[in-house]
Amino acid sequence: MKLFPWTRPLVARFRPPGDKSITHRAVLFSTLAEGDSEIYHPLDSLDIAASLRLVQTIGVEIIQQHTDAWVLRSPGYHQLHEPDDVINCDNSGTTIRLASGLLAGLPGLTVLTGDNSLRRRPMARVIEPLTRLGVDIRGRTGGLAPLVIKGGAHRGGVIALSVASAQVKSAVLLAGMTASQPVTVQEKTPTRDHTERFLHAMGAKIYADAGKVTVEPGRLQPIAVTVPGDPSSAAFWATLAALLPGSSLVIEKVSVNPGRVGFYQVLQKMGAGVEFRVQQPDPDPMGEIVVASGPLRGISIGPELVPSLIDELPLIGLLGSLAQGKTEVRGAEELRFKESDRIHTTVVNLQTLGVEIKELPDGFEVWGQDHLGGGVVDAFGDHRIGMMLAIAAAVSREPLELLGGDAIAISYPKFFSDYQRLGSV
Ligand code: S3P
Repeated sequence: MKLFPWTRPLVARFRPPGDKSITHRAVLFSTLAEGDSEIYHPLDSLDIAASLRLVQTIGVEIIQQHTDAWVLRSPGYHQLHEPDDVINCDNSGTTIRLASGLLAGLPGLTVLTGDNSLRRRPMARVIEPLTRLGVDIRGRTGGLAPLVIKGGAHRGGVIALSVASAQVKSAVLLAGMTASQPVTVQEKTPTRDHTERFLHAMGAKIYADAGKVTVEPGRLQPIAVTVPGDPSSAAFWATLAALLPGSSLVIEKVSVNPGRVGFYQVLQKMGAGVEFRVQQPDPDPMGEIVVASGPLRGISIGPELVPSLIDELPLIGLLGSLAQGKTEVRGAEELRFKESDRIHTTVVNLQTLGVEIKELPDGFEVWGQDHLGGGVVDAFGDHRIGMMLAIAAAVSREPLELLGGDAIAISYPKFFSDYQRLGSV
């Protein structure tokens, strides 16, 4: 696919597609409560299709699936049934990891698998803590999917997480919902708390204190939720607005959850104009983010910030390549275990565009310059790398040939129609 530099600034109001993390949770958690869960402004993408398929396979009925309103009917967790076949989670790490905890209390055998990329991603991080709770869960050698879960009774306990991962934290908390005793998770670095907020809104006894979250097993109520816009999807347009002189972008009804806005705070520190307006604090903060272009300067990002902008780090590479001075990202080894090795795929693609960027074991260093070149770049099957490269094309001086852009449908199927629409506003 050939992509061309944009010739005009980005001046627009824009509502991003529904948040991926929250839509996954809305779909998966519908299993926990008897009755109808209503999901407004859901993300409709390939990743979410994997979660929808999973819940249907164990007994949830899709009552309504209009563009902007879904209704899922669950018979209640204890009426769900063993799946009659292997469940394919495709490319979705959130589906397979959250489902590992969710299905821990479901009597019977569940086998969870995925595509080539998912079957290479680390699952020991969920197998180990769940095993400590007495869950019978196994993977292939090296802790890889397929995962086999023999669900049933398991105990509570205190689990200290060895990786900063909201997916792992969520898997443990979900197992806690069907354990015999409360489960406490201890995090070293805070990660996004959508699971905690969601379970609380469904009536769970869940409390957080000093880096620990405890959940008590119990009955939940279905809820109606409006999914905020995805700040990680909006970050592509925010990057464009920050880089194209004269731009101003109002991102409407977007998640402003403190665990998700690290990227926008960094953008502000780099010199872009950024304003946050919280409009609805509960159950998960939603509001407006305004981004205006500005001359950007390099920045240093360390491990304490990484979880709050983990999915946006490829964009920091792009921003750093057009900012003044050096930009450095460290403590981000987790990026190597995403849909692609995002340290490597960011570095090689930006090098193709003539950027001086160096790969480090846990991040990268990039030196700013005044323009990007063109060339043939590759998404490497990774939606976020594909979108970062499309934004690079828009701010480059030369056209760019993008290979593998179809991966973008994983999280943002309408990305290219928005690209055209926003490009001609
Ligand atoms: C997610 C958590 C993050 C993120 C992923 C979605 C979630 O993964 O990269 O896109 O919904 O909990 P990790 O928990 O593996 O860091």
